[in-house]
Amino acid sequence: MATSTSAGAPSGAVDQERVQRFLEKVIADGGAAMAGLCTSLGDRLGLYAAMAGAGPLTSARLAARTGLVERYVREWLDAQVAGEYVTYTPETDTYQLPDEHAAVLADPDRSTYAAGFFTVLQAVYATEDSLREAFRTGEGVGWEEHSPALFAGTAKFFRPGYTAALVPEWLTALDGVVEKLERGARVADVGCGYGYSTTLMARAFPRSYFRGFDFHRPSVEAARGIAAERGLADRVSFDVATAQDFPGEGFDLITFFDCLHDIGDPGGALLHAEHALADGGTCMIVEPNASANAQENTNPVGRALTAASVAVCLPSALAQHGPQALGNHAGEEAIRQIADDAGLHHWRLAAESPVNRVYAVGR
Ligand SMILES: C[S@@+](CC[C@H](N)C(=O)[O-])C[C@H]1O[C@@H](n2cnc3c(N)ncnc32)[C@H](O)[C@@H]1O
Repeated sequence: MATSTSAGAPSGAVDQERVQRFLEKVIADGGAAMAGLCTSLGDRLGLYAAMAGAGPLTSARLAARTGLVERYVREWLDAQVAGEYVTYTPETDTYQLPDEHAAVLADPDRSTYAAGFFTVLQAVYATEDSLREAFRTGEGVGWEEHSPALFAGTAKFFRPGYTAALVPEWLTALDGVVEKLERGARVADVGCGYGYSTTLMARAFPRSYFRGFDFHRPSVEAARGIAAERGLADRVSFDVATAQDFPGEGFDLITFFDCLHDIGDPGGALLHAEHALADGGTCMIVEPNASANAQENTNPVGRALTAASVAVCLPSALAQHGPQALGNHAGEEAIRQIADDAGLHHWRLAAESPVNRVYAVGR
C-alpha cells in the first residue's frame, strides 16, 4: 500500500521514467496553453489573414500589411515558428504561413477554421477567480457574467462544424425535415447565441421562416447584426427569450445547438418545445460529442469539452438554479430520459461529427 509523508508526497517507489514522461506531457501542455494567447492575437489582429497566400514575408512587410508595430510582430512570428505554425527561412529572414495552416487559422468562413477556440480561452482563463469561489459555495457563474470573449468565441468555435455539416448532413439525416424546409417551414432556434446556425439554415432554405431565441441580450443583438449583414433580416428574426418561455407555436423544427446542457431546466425547455411543435414536428438536439464515461474522453476534443464544462457549462446551468445542471457530457441516456419525460418519446441518434452528436426527437 502506498504511504505518504506528512507533506503529502508519496514515499513509496516511484517510477522515475514515468515521472519524466508525465513531466514532459505537462510541460508540453503548459507551452500550448502559453502559446494559445499568441494564436488568439494572430487571429484577432488579422496576422494569419494577412499571411494567408502571401508567400514569404519579412516581419517588416507583415507589420506594414497589418498596420502593427514591427517589434511586436517579429516577437510573435518567432513564437509562431517555435510552435511550428509558421516556417522561417534564415537566408531571406522571411516567414511563411503554409496554405494548409492558413486553412485552419486564417478564414472564419472555412469549415476547417479553428482559431475561434482561442477566443474562448481568453474568457475561460478570466473566469478563474469566480470559479474558485463557486467551487467553495456551489453557486453558479452565469453565462452573462463572463467576458464578451466567451460569446464571440463560442460562436467562432462552433461555426465551422455547423458550416461543414448542418445543412448537408445533419438536416438531411432528419426524416422529412428538408422537404418541409424546401416547401416553407417555421423554425425556432433556441439558445441561438450569435445565430450562425440560424443564418446557415436560412440561407439554404429561402422559403422558410426562422426565429432565434436566447436569454442573453448582447448575443441576440449580435445575431441580428449578422443576419442583417447577410441580407436575411426579412425571414430571420432574433428575440430575447428563455428556452422555457420563448413565444410562438406550430414550429415544424425546433433546434437546440450546444445549449440544452447549459440550461438549468432542460426538462422545462423540452416540455415547452413539445408544446410549441407543430403536428409531426421535429426537435433537433445538438450536443457536444463527449462521453458520460470519463475514460472515453481521453482525446483532444473530449479533453477540451470536459474542461469547458468545468469552466462554463456546469456553472451556467447552476447559476439558473434549475432542477438539473447536466454539464456537457451527461450522455445520451440522461438527455433521452429528460426528453421522454417531456413527452418527446421518439429519439434517434441522427448524425455525428468529431465535436457534436445530433439527435432527432419527436412526439
Ligand atoms: C454554448 S452557447 C451556444 C450558442 C449557439 N447555439 C451556438 O451553437 O453557437 C449556449 C447558449 O445558450 C444560451 N442559454 C443558456 N441558458 C439559456 C436559457 N435558459 N434560455 C435561453 N438561452 C439560454 C446562452 O445565452 C448561450 O448563447
